[in-house]
Amino acid sequence: MHARTPKHFVLEERLERYADFIEPAPQDYAGRWAEACYPLGGTTAAGGAAGAGRFREVHLDLGCGKGAFTVESARREPDVLFLGMDGEPLCMAYAGGLAAKSGLENVVFLAWDGHRVTEAFAPGELSRIYLNFPTPFPRKRQARRRLTDATCLMEYRRILAPDGTLRLKTDSRPLYLFTLEELDAAGYQVLWTSEDARADFPNEPTSGYEERLAANGAKVFALEATPGPEPAHFSPTPQRGLVEYLPQDLEKLDYVPLGMEATVWNMRNREAKLWAKGHKGSGTAGGVEKAN
Ligand SMILES: C[S@@+](CC[C@H](N)C(=O)[O-])C[C@H]1O[C@@H](n2cnc3c(N)ncnc32)[C@H](O)[C@@H]1O
Repeated sequence: MHARTPKHFVLEERLERYADFIEPAPQDYAGRWAEACYPLGGTTAAGGAAGAGRFREVHLDLGCGKGAFTVESARREPDVLFLGMDGEPLCMAYAGGLAAKSGLENVVFLAWDGHRVTEAFAPGELSRIYLNFPTPFPRKRQARRRLTDATCLMEYRRILAPDGTLRLKTDSRPLYLFTLEELDAAGYQVLWTSEDARADFPNEPTSGYEERLAANGAKVFALEATPGPEPAHFSPTPQRGLVEYLPQDLEKLDYVPLGMEATVWNMRNREAKLWAKGHKGSGTAGGVEKAN
């Protein structure tokens, strides 16, 4: 899931060129993003004078990739500060370039690991966290790396405003189902869900992966949730492979989600071999999960 580097692309040079739009030490701004970034240049997009106030809200695009969604969202809501966070320097170089070209003053990218997100914000500082097509990390042993693991969701509770929300979009029904369970474990209230967000919200800004995966026939699963009462006794959920959320009958799977191509291929192969031998196998997660 790493971005490919085009010819003549020098990462360090790009990062330096767009340094005004890429913040490598976001912890220095914790608690004062809305004021410190208002405006980035002389006047705000809304026409206010420099230093005149603060952005109305701060939204975080966590795992923003090359930043297309972050920048388009910033264009649509000039009084909101949009921060895109990603741990991949190459993504930051692209995103910084996009921000520079946009001429917008309400978008900044943070080169930072999402698992340390609470260091970058004060309690209640964020009105919204977007998780667009988060890396699925489908294997059981990778489960804790998923940005929708309940342990992460408990962290987001600290930096979200009480009425703040978390929005997920993914092409992966397994990741969507997993996330619903994790949200429940972390005490969130689900406000809405959609199993076809492109049809339900056709005018919403789209992300780079959304464009790419929709062209391959992906449906977009989406939800919005808000922190409810904090669980009295939280303990991390058991680690699970996303293979557990695939349908029993793989014939029903008309789209293979991002990151699960090899797993599904192996399962189908195994089924085909069992058929050829004359006994139908279970075709379920179990056999493959052992390999994961
Ligand atoms: C599948 S891409 C989606 C990018 C973008 N949101 C989109 O929809 O086009 C997932 C992104 O999440 C980033 N990512 C994964 N784990 C992360 C973490 N712990 N902290 C920050 N970024 C992370 C990856 O570097 C990658 O850019």
